[in-house]
Amino acid sequence: MKCLVTGGAGYVGSHVVIGLLDAGHEVAVIDNLSTGYRAAVPSGVRFFPLDLLDAEAINKILASEKWDVVLHFAALSLVNESMRKPFYYLRQNYITALNLIEACAQNGVRRFVFSSTAALFGGKERFSLIPDNARVEASSPYGESKFLIERALVWADQIYGMRSASLRYFNAAGADPLGRLGEEHTPETHLIPLAIDTVLGLRGKLKIFGNDYPTRDGTCIRDYIHVTDLADAYIRVIELLDRRSVTYNLGNGLGFTNMEVVQAIEHVSGRKLPWEWAPRRTGDPSMLVADSALIRRETGWSPHYSSIDIIVETALQWRKRNPHGYRKQAGIGQEKWSPIFGQEVEL
Ligand code: UFG
Repeated sequence: MKCLVTGGAGYVGSHVVIGLLDAGHEVAVIDNLSTGYRAAVPSGVRFFPLDLLDAEAINKILASEKWDVVLHFAALSLVNESMRKPFYYLRQNYITALNLIEACAQNGVRRFVFSSTAALFGGKERFSLIPDNARVEASSPYGESKFLIERALVWADQIYGMRSASLRYFNAAGADPLGRLGEEHTPETHLIPLAIDTVLGLRGKLKIFGNDYPTRDGTCIRDYIHVTDLADAYIRVIELLDRRSVTYNLGNGLGFTNMEVVQAIEHVSGRKLPWEWAPRRTGDPSMLVADSALIRRETGWSPHYSSIDIIVETALQWRKRNPHGYRKQAGIGQEKWSPIFGQEVEL
């Protein structure tokens, strides 16, 4: 298949790009590099350095070639930041997606896969697995922006026949088990990469946000899903789209508290992880864990890297080999992509 991936230079997008390449598909990437890295896009993949706000340029790409599937990752994605910049998040995520969806629908794209989020369930405190048919109650403008896009896709299907999959994925984590890619954000805000940098001595004490949540140890519970398992799910759902549009929860179905993540990192690295309590972060729900029954049943998908130790191990290995992430790598040649780069950090 000929696949067009927006946000393919980002963390999840780039892992799905190598998943598609490994499965033998042809891939092109659109990314404005606002948060992604050129070096995360393998050489040989066509790269369009474009912003999705540029509707005309996007339309040109969709009109000039026939794409079998479009996969949309490009978005602002920080729950907490969206609480400080609500209209920026709503506008940016929705308008960019609308430009893309409109261009796809009008140029005859038949299949579209959308990176939705578990954050659209965050508005109501839940202490059991979140079923596929749970009521949407976003706890942040970020979650809301993703729901608006899901709704636009419903109309693209009804009016243009463009089938779509909205994958409401939970906390993407880990790194390519072959060491080709990893997680890198600037600034980094996610628990696992921050905790790994702390244990590797690349940054100071980790702050644990909140110890008074109604959970087993007072810290938030999240469902960490390995990015390679996410990539596998994306590839499986594409096949279903010949028949109908789908919406799936996508997670491991296992919840770990923030403190359990800290313990897993200590266990895997064999080192103490210095941490301290900090106040709650706004917009954080107590618990987000998926019941992914529908995607399992309808596509045969199931996670291969579901253990938190394996998730952490792959992330740790990548970071040890890439302590400076992609920034340094970009410096040695933007066009080059080297599978393993950098100095190993001594444990
Ligand atoms: N946390 C800390 N200290 C840190 C960073 C995070 O205690 O330094 C805590 C958070 O408060 C939260 C948990 O670790 O309780 C996970 O936080 P992350 O920032 O790693 O991830 P989020 O759950 O906030 O959000 C992620 C993605 C969203 C997506 C969501 C879905 O960033 O885009 O998962 O569950 F919507």
